[in-house]
Formats: sequence, structure tokens, C-alpha cells
Amino acid sequence: MNVLGIETSCDECSVAVVVDGRKILSNIVATQVERHAPWNGVVPEIASRLHVEWIEDVTTRALDEAGLSLKEDIDAVAVTSRPGLIGSLLVGLSYAKGLAWAADKPWVGVDHMMAHLYAPHLEYDIEYPYLGLIVSGGHTILCRVASMDEVEVLGTTIDDACGEAFDKVAKFYDMGYPGGVALDKLAENGDADAFRFPEPRLHKGPHRYDVSYSGLKTAAVNQLEQFRTVGYEASLENIAASFRKAAIDMLVKRVRLAAKDTGIMRVVAGGGVSANRYLRIVLNEDKKLETYFPSIALCTDNGAMIAALGYHRLSKGERSDLNLNAAARVSGFRRPYP
Ligand code: KG4
Ligand code: ZN
Repeated sequence: MNVLGIETSCDECSVAVVVDGRKILSNIVATQVERHAPWNGVVPEIASRLHVEWIEDVTTRALDEAGLSLKEDIDAVAVTSRPGLIGSLLVGLSYAKGLAWAADKPWVGVDHMMAHLYAPHLEYDIEYPYLGLIVSGGHTILCRVASMDEVEVLGTTIDDACGEAFDKVAKFYDMGYPGGVALDKLAENGDADAFRFPEPRLHKGPHRYDVSYSGLKTAAVNQLEQFRTVGYEASLENIAASFRKAAIDMLVKRVRLAAKDTGIMRVVAGGGVSANRYLRIVLNEDKKLETYFPSIALCTDNGAMIAALGYHRLSKGERSDLNLNAAARVSGFRRPYP
């Protein structure tokens, strides 16, 4: 089944063609990074307007690169319908509806976070059950995945998302844009012992897999000197390395705890933060765990993961109709999800 996947939930305008949820024929990602860089963050109005301008061209390029025609070769359309920036989501969703209607193809709206979780399935045969770690700019989710249709959220953030914390600290110290990538790069040349940031004290009970980033962010931004180790410089590299370690160790600790509690040693990561070098090293080096990371291009937003999850849903007979609306948030994603 040839599925055309459309992703416009944030600042990447992306369209892909994927065969049977596995073989990527094309995956065009038109990034708006340069257009948001002057503001050091994504400006929703600019994002949605650029999607309107770009979507048709990106779709044409995806079809051309795949060497396929919409009418003759594409079997179905998949599109991100939730969660994300509402204006951006609406562009992709409306475009997908129009395309599917005009070409008389079935289509399905899919969940962006579930698509991040599905991304590693494009590259590996992964057995269930596993622990899913979905970490992006808007979400931080640790879940138990019995199958793609049975996902139980174990923990989430009680305040900021992990990627958001990276972005805010990077912005404050003017480390570069996009923040997470810039901070990760600087951290490579810093010393993580330079600052000892405190760990949040969270629940020991049923919410023990939750994380919190607002305290760490405040410590790194407003109380830096308090946590400096004697003899270390407050260089950008040292701040980045110490922050990165604290932010990622928090996730790794929860993953290890969940593995111990559930006996599930297989871990699947996805979302922009899964591109983090330190996270990849720490989890890959843990011999007790069997961890799958998407390749870097499939960590951040892309149409291929949408097409792949769409294939899965369509194969199960799921279809969306023209009444489907976009949703900025997915309510009650704590448990169960979606
Ligand atoms: O999945 P994604 O592309 O978009 C959302 O769905 O939000 O994730 C973007 C997030 C941003 O917060 C970005 O700073 C973060 O992922 N990110 C990283 C890295 N690359 C992207 N965070 C830490 N280290 C990285 N290497
Ligand atoms: Zn994303």
C-alpha cells in the first residue's frame, strides 16, 4: 500500500511516500527554521502561513521523488490531525482532505505523538511489549506499549516538556537556534560536573514515573551560581553539559525504574529529544536494556512517520471522514493514550 503522509503540526512542512509502512520512497522536509530564528522560537502565525505557501510544492516534490502519481499510484493519504499548533495542523489537515476527496482516496488523521513512537518501526522489526519514551518540544511521555493500539501512559511531565526546557535554557544563554540542537552541540565540549543541579523530588507512589523540568530550568537560568562546583568556569559549554546531563538523567532514571517494575527491558525512543547525543549513548550503553532509536532524520518531525502510522491504521480498516477536526491538545493523555 502506497501511503502519502502529510505533517504540518509545527514548523516543518513535510510530505512523504511510504510503502507498506516500511519502505520510504520519499520524505521531503521543508524546514522553516531560518524564518523563526530571528524570534528564537516558533511563531505560530508565521508557521501556518508558510505551510499554506509551501504545502503544494512539497507534496509535488514528494510524489516526483517517489516517481508516483497521486491518482494512479497512491492508495491512501495520512495526515497529522493532533496535537500541535492549531493553525499549522489545520493547513495540513485541510489540504489532505481536499487531496483525498479530489483523488477519491481513503484517508486517515493520525496522532503526532503516536507517529513519533512508530518512527523506529520504519527501520527495525520491534517486538512488543516495550517501553516507549516519546520526548519532543511539547510532550514527555513514558509508556508501556503492548501493541500500537494498546498504549498505557506510565509517566509524563508535570510542567514543561523536556525539549521545551532545552529550548528555553538555550534561548536564555543565546546558545543558538534551534535550542535543543545547539545546546546538545555545546555540551559536547563542556564538563557536566561544573554544575550540580538539584533533582526534583517527585512522587514515590503511582506517579513515580513523572518528571518535572521547571525547577531545573529555573536553577539553570536564575540560580546558576548556587550550583557551580568550585574550580569550574561558568562557560556556555559547561552550563550546557551540566544541564543536559541533569535533564536526560531524569528521563533515564524513570526508564530504568519502569523496566525494573514491569520487567520490560525493550525501550523504543522517539521525538526530537531522542536525537540527543547523551541520551542515545546512555541508553545504548545500558546492557540490561535493548533500546531502539530512530535515525536522526526520523527523530524530528517528518511525513514518513505519519505515512507509516497511517498505513498501520488504514490496514486495520480505520478511515477518517471530512468532519474530522484538528486538535491542539489530546485530552487525558495521561492514561490511557491516545
Ligand atoms: O519532535 P519535534 O521535532 O517537534 C515536536 O513534536 O515538538 O521535537 C522538537 C524538540 C525541540 O524542543 C528541540 O529542541 C528538541 O526536540 N531537540 C533536541 C535535540 N534535537 C531536537 N533536544 C535535545 N537534544 C537534541 N539533539
Ligand atoms: Zn514532533
